[in-house]
Amino acid sequence: MKTEEMKKQNRRTVMVIFGATGDLTHKKLMPALYNLLKRDLLPEDFHVIAVGRQEKTSESYRQEISQSIADNIYGELKPELFGALAEKTVYHRQDFSEDAGYTKLKEIIGEDADVMYYLAVAPQAFEVIIGKLGEHGMQAHDSGFRRVVIEKPFGADLKTAEYLNEKINAVFPEKDIYRIDHYLGKEMLQNIIILRFANAIFEPIWNKNYIDNIQITSSEDIGVGSRGGYYEHSGALRDMLQNHLLQLLSLTVMEPPRSLSEDDIRIEKLKVLRSLNDRLDSIETVRGQYGAGEINGKTIAAYRDQEKVDAESDVETFVATKMYLNTGRWQGVPIYIRTGKALKEKTTEVVIELKETPYSHYFPDQTLKPNLLVIKIQPEEGMVVRFCAKSPGALNQVVPVGMDFCQNCQTGVNSPEAYERLLHDVMRGDATLFTRWEEVEASWIFADRIKAEWDKQKPDFPNYAPGSWGPKAADELLRKDGRRWWVSQTGEI
Ligand SMILES: NC(=O)c1ccc[n+]([C@@H]2O[C@H](COP(=O)([O-])OP(=O)(O)OC[C@H]3O[C@@H](n4cnc5c(N)ncnc54)[C@H](OP(=O)(O)O)[C@@H]3O)[C@@H](O)[C@H]2O)c1
Repeated sequence: MKTEEMKKQNRRTVMVIFGATGDLTHKKLMPALYNLLKRDLLPEDFHVIAVGRQEKTSESYRQEISQSIADNIYGELKPELFGALAEKTVYHRQDFSEDAGYTKLKEIIGEDADVMYYLAVAPQAFEVIIGKLGEHGMQAHDSGFRRVVIEKPFGADLKTAEYLNEKINAVFPEKDIYRIDHYLGKEMLQNIIILRFANAIFEPIWNKNYIDNIQITSSEDIGVGSRGGYYEHSGALRDMLQNHLLQLLSLTVMEPPRSLSEDDIRIEKLKVLRSLNDRLDSIETVRGQYGAGEINGKTIAAYRDQEKVDAESDVETFVATKMYLNTGRWQGVPIYIRTGKALKEKTTEVVIELKETPYSHYFPDQTLKPNLLVIKIQPEEGMVVRFCAKSPGALNQVVPVGMDFCQNCQTGVNSPEAYERLLHDVMRGDATLFTRWEEVEASWIFADRIKAEWDKQKPDFPNYAPGSWGPKAADELLRKDGRRWWVSQTGEI
């Protein structure tokens, strides 16, 4: 549904946030709602019910969120705008397991309303909240919608994901389940579709005839910090690769969809994941865990010495993979993905390396640098095209030059935060940027297989220094193929 249609309907729309005192609500959801209001993208009759177990009044809750919003938006908080959001926000105290709380909550929501339930809570709480919503008939409606938004992680492996999915499906139909992958809300990720399909300079070369290899790097230049408790149950494979990076890969390599509708895009993304699973036997992986060291002059403790982390933990803070897709378009094109914590730079980018031209023999004494297309997802958003040109003045000296399009470099251009786009989409009923069950299922098959291989052997951790690009074996993964990792942030591209 278009925004104008949504606004014209002028229906009472209620967003119920479970976990309203938590980090996600404070840092992401409330600032996103404020920005949506600022951009006039919220329904006219919009209300927030903030559910938490701490003793608070609506007034004290509003004061807390005004500070969080101020800390997490660009520019100054406008009091009149915040006032408009605050007056639509009430705090409701209840424990997730307590029936009386749901009875009262149902009353506050009222009869005739569109409702989105946002589960900004730890994954262990998903089942109980969904179950209680079902028991209290809060998914049922005569008019309007009832949608549920589930945060990641969706399960810890295929089995637990299937179990959770069954529980949710027993209460909500698949069409009303919005599984958040906030990466999909990022501007440049959505831009991939436009770059690929709206440009005659890119579309024809997007295949094995011109592309030598595809690389994705998603790195952080900090350790796990205080999130050790969470990370011990996930690791880099499940925290990043299984969800965000497979989604990013799918958009990069999928076949042209029949249209840009949600269903058509999903069909193509799913084919990519299933095709990866057809080649599970050929996947090569490197895992790593950081030791103690320094990043940019700042000392960082080893992962195993981090708060709430087992002193002998074998959880990986780095993973690199090499894999192939079982499709005609990508036959023989290796796909390399790496992600990790405590690495040299913070960046997420896709690098497409092109093949040599058949004319490199024209330049017998020179090693030509390959053409590269770099799609920068974060923190910088944009694209770099690297190609060869003649060095000015000198004889036929060929040098690599770059054309750099930076989407978020100009002052005054602030791309909307991922959560703004995603919340707006839930309200409009557009699930294109959310992951459907079959995609989750295929991604878990992939991750489970890697995990099963890893479980056969105890790793020799820690095996990389903070501030590096991970274990040496990750570089070797490409070097043995005569290739190397590229990353634009270091100025090499
Ligand atoms: N934080 C992020 O930036 C981020 C990013 C991506 C995904 N996520 C996902 O988002 C979800 C929430 O993360 P978070 O960082 O916001 O977690 P958090 O800070 O621990 O917040 C959890 C919330 O749940 C509430 N809660 C826990 N048990 C409860 C109970 N029995 N009854 C009522 N309320 C209860 C907590 O209330 P109290 O205040 O009373 O403890 C708190 O409001 C997780 O699934 C996480 O993986 C978070």
